Amino acid sequence: MNAFDLSRLRPRLPSPLEPVEDERFARRGLTLLLKREDLIHPDLPGNKWRKLALNLGAAAGRPVLTFGGAYSNHLRATAAAGRLLGFPTVGIVRGDELAGRPLNPSLARCAADGMRLEFVDRATYRAKNDPATLAKLLERAPAGAYVVPEGGSNVLAVQGCVELGRELRGAADTVAVACGTGGTLAGLAAGLSPGQRAWGVPVLKGGFLGAEVRALQEAAFGGPRGDWTLDERFHGGGYARVSPDLEAFARDFEARHGLAIERLYVAKMLHGLTTLAEEGAFPAGTRLAAVVTGAPDGSQSAASSR
Ligand SMILES: Cc1ncc(COP(=O)(O)O)c(C=O)c1O
Repeated sequence: MNAFDLSRLRPRLPSPLEPVEDERFARRGLTLLLKREDLIHPDLPGNKWRKLALNLGAAAGRPVLTFGGAYSNHLRATAAAGRLLGFPTVGIVRGDELAGRPLNPSLARCAADGMRLEFVDRATYRAKNDPATLAKLLERAPAGAYVVPEGGSNVLAVQGCVELGRELRGAADTVAVACGTGGTLAGLAAGLSPGQRAWGVPVLKGGFLGAEVRALQEAAFGGPRGDWTLDERFHGGGYARVSPDLEAFARDFEARHGLAIERLYVAKMLHGLTTLAEEGAFPAGTRLAAVVTGAPDGSQSAASSR
């Protein structure tokens, strides 16, 4: 274990798998289980832990530079890891109009955790994977910085998410997960056993995610892995859109089951899974595991939290 091994932070792993009583599932003979990834660590919940673990091991204490929008959960988790493990962090934030304004609560948290924030215009942000643009950003960063892409989804992140799938072997027939970049789904599907299926719910509109998941699996494993599908019906109008119906669904779910539901990803996945159950999409006897990939942070608004 090196000094930047996240296991020093005593994560709750394997994350708990909790059966819940929900009549919308029970009446169809379905079992609903919640995979409580939100309980892994208070500062690095859910897929943030899975994605950062191998990356921070690889960075081995070097400064970490990464990217995100003004409400990025990923930026916040990276900043917290830097504080907890003692390495410098740099956050490249989309939107130069934010520079000089008071920080929103999410970015204030990053700064309080010691992250150096650099605001860039949208064109630069879009070009961040272009080698020349990245080289310029790195010139201003501390020497030897380790780069983690937006959303944290690189090869090591996908490989880190394999463990999530392994923890679910034998426990469920279908595993539901919300998707942004698709990295969590790519790794999860690879970790499941034959006969288990991963069902991904994109929270962004566009229909581009299948190709991304395939590309991530190709890069991480050399080819396709596992049985996964995407259901494009539940993005609810696009990223960060939370309709009154979705809000009502989430509140009702919270009241039924006594846990707080993150709206931009987890609520959309649970809404999709519940809709499918009620449509009779699963045969009686199916065990459904819903991955709770994150927790609400109290500072989310209808803005970007990727
Ligand atoms: C709570 C939550 N769930 C799911 C996801 C989607 O993960 P991915 O980008 O790996 O598809 C994210 C984004 O990182 C997230 O913050």
